[in-house]
Amino acid sequence: MTTPGRAHIRWLRNTAPYINAHRGKTFVLMLGGEVALHENFAVIFHDIALLNSLGVRLVLIHGSRPQIAERLERAGLATSFHDGMRITDSAALEHVKDAAGSLRAQIEALLSMGLPNSPMQGARIRVCSGNFVTARPIGVVDGIDFHHTGKVRRIDVAGIRRQLEDGSIVLLSPLGYSPTGEIFSLALEDIAVQCAAAIGADKLIMFSDTEGVCDDAGKLIRQCTVGDIERLEISDPDHGSLLHAARSACLAGVARSHIISYNNDCALLEELFTHDGSGTLVANDSYEQAREANIDDVGGIIELIQPLEQQGVLVKRSRELLETEIRRFRLLERDHRIIACAALYPFAEEACGEIACIVSHPDYRGGQRGQRLLEELETEARRQGLDRVFVLTTQTAHWFIEQGFVEGSRDALPERKQALYNLQRNSKVFFKAL
Ligand SMILES: CC(C)(COP(=O)(O)OP(=O)(O)OC[C@H]1O[C@@H](n2cnc3c(N)ncnc32)[C@H](O)[C@@H]1OP(=O)(O)O)[C@@H](O)C(=O)NCCC(=O)NCCS
Repeated sequence: MTTPGRAHIRWLRNTAPYINAHRGKTFVLMLGGEVALHENFAVIFHDIALLNSLGVRLVLIHGSRPQIAERLERAGLATSFHDGMRITDSAALEHVKDAAGSLRAQIEALLSMGLPNSPMQGARIRVCSGNFVTARPIGVVDGIDFHHTGKVRRIDVAGIRRQLEDGSIVLLSPLGYSPTGEIFSLALEDIAVQCAAAIGADKLIMFSDTEGVCDDAGKLIRQCTVGDIERLEISDPDHGSLLHAARSACLAGVARSHIISYNNDCALLEELFTHDGSGTLVANDSYEQAREANIDDVGGIIELIQPLEQQGVLVKRSRELLETEIRRFRLLERDHRIIACAALYPFAEEACGEIACIVSHPDYRGGQRGQRLLEELETEARRQGLDRVFVLTTQTAHWFIEQGFVEGSRDALPERKQALYNLQRNSKVFFKAL
């Protein structure tokens, strides 16, 4: 086999963890009408088809703003906006239906492709569109009647889930229907956020015309938390509104929102299958700040670790010892309560560090908080120039193995640690190269 062939195979191997992580997950993708006007339109849908074949459950929401604007202009109809929203009177509604219907058909056609020698060969995708979004009128605001411009009132969660379970891609247009039988034009972001929240999506992915969201200095924001958003300086209204949607989705329980570019035909796969991603990731951990511990945290840490000391899972630490070593600890805090902690003890001469006292509160298990702290301590260890970390454990060996640790010999510990090794505990020793 030629070298490039092997490189591809290695690349495919490296994507396996991402493929496993995404399988069975639900992603909501928001694509504004501009995407349909771009040359990458078809490629993006081929990638969406690929995600479907990798077992990702997908809900697509397409917009049609430029298509509506073009139709209204052609018809010589003036458009008025209030508060950034288009007012849709009965005449405009005809064009809104026309634009949305036409785009929906175009997307359904793209996802139905199956030509040999194309990325869609053998894809056989089922797309399902329907009356999944119930709307209500915005009504009269500041004396202005919005007519057929509406808001999401309800999402048919059971209906969407049934289609997803059946393996279909659900496609939503920016329209909603009311119990009175009327049609309403809805904001794309409104449907995307409400839908992602209602169906409990794992991710909301939004396409933008730039790499992601940039700050006012033009620098791409790779990652931020919901809490960071308030502190960011963003004056671009489009970026502001994408971040606002990401924030709303996260606050409504969606773990991650991504903002990626439709100008880069690889952005979607890069974001999902590479370590660094391609755009902006907004993570829903605003209520759980990770930070260095300080002397005021000693009481909270004792409360967290004491039950485990009593069970013999952790070595006993006195309050005095904790006070002197408090700077070694990192913690996760939620509503002013410490819900996880972990410590890093560097052994600079041996270029290694001990991970110790890693605990997450029993009420908050299942959220991989221990893993998050471990990753942060590993980053810190790398920053300090250490090239491996180790742990001593009696009851948590398998968890550490799952985090990439490998069992090693006691003799491989730094000398200072060997001298302190507690024979009675008979802990196992695990190492991880950084
Ligand atoms: C180890 C620990 C920090 C992991 O916390 P976390 O990242 O929040 O982990 P989660 O609760 O999300 O659990 C992650 C997985 O690890 C597993 N796990 C937890 N403790 C484990 C153990 N002792 N041995 C093997 N697997 C374990 C969980 O069952 C879960 O697996 P699942 O997703 O397949 O069910 C946490 O379980 C803990 O506080 N344990 C008690 C303290 C402890 O043992 N610390 C290590 C001292 S050396």
